Amino acid sequence: MTTLYQAQSKHVVSDFGTIQTFLAQRGVAFARWNASVDFEPDADETTILDVYQHELQPFMASNGFQSADVITIHPKTENVAALNAKFLKEHTHSEDEVRFFVAGQGDFWFHLEEPTDEVFGVTCTAGDFLSVPAGVKHWFDMGPADDETSPNVKVIRIFTSKDGWTPHYTQSGLEQTVAKPLLTAGATV
Ligand SMILES: [Fe+2]
Repeated sequence: MTTLYQAQSKHVVSDFGTIQTFLAQRGVAFARWNASVDFEPDADETTILDVYQHELQPFMASNGFQSADVITIHPKTENVAALNAKFLKEHTHSEDEVRFFVAGQGDFWFHLEEPTDEVFGVTCTAGDFLSVPAGVKHWFDMGPADDETSPNVKVIRIFTSKDGWTPHYTQSGLEQTVAKPLLTAGATV
């Protein structure tokens, strides 16, 4: 389930519209695309991109994006530990980071310093489309690599230029201090 977790207040929100409004107020575009297609675990990039052309093409054309690819991470991904370490540290990019979740899930964490210092995480699931603005501090937690099912995420990445995705690490270590949310249905509002 798509869920928002506010680290300071420990407030948990699972209503999509409320999450969307919360993020929009902070400059983060968030939407839901139709993700009803179940792909085979080893579905190739072209197959996946073709299915979502009807969403991708107009978005990319009207927003100046040049290319898209697919990244798939599962427990047997060869360099899963290195990828996890790379994504998990707080960083920024010089361009927007645009992602569409095709399958699986992962947590996008944000650290905004203006107007008030706040940290919040969004558990993104299949169908979630999210754009992290350039310069916004964030990190991505794909979940623990401790069993046969996690991590599990398949995401379309949309680029203006791949150079823009280069991470600029803040070295804050903040990602190590934020407790993992306890996202249970009983805690939602
Ligand atoms: Fe990033």
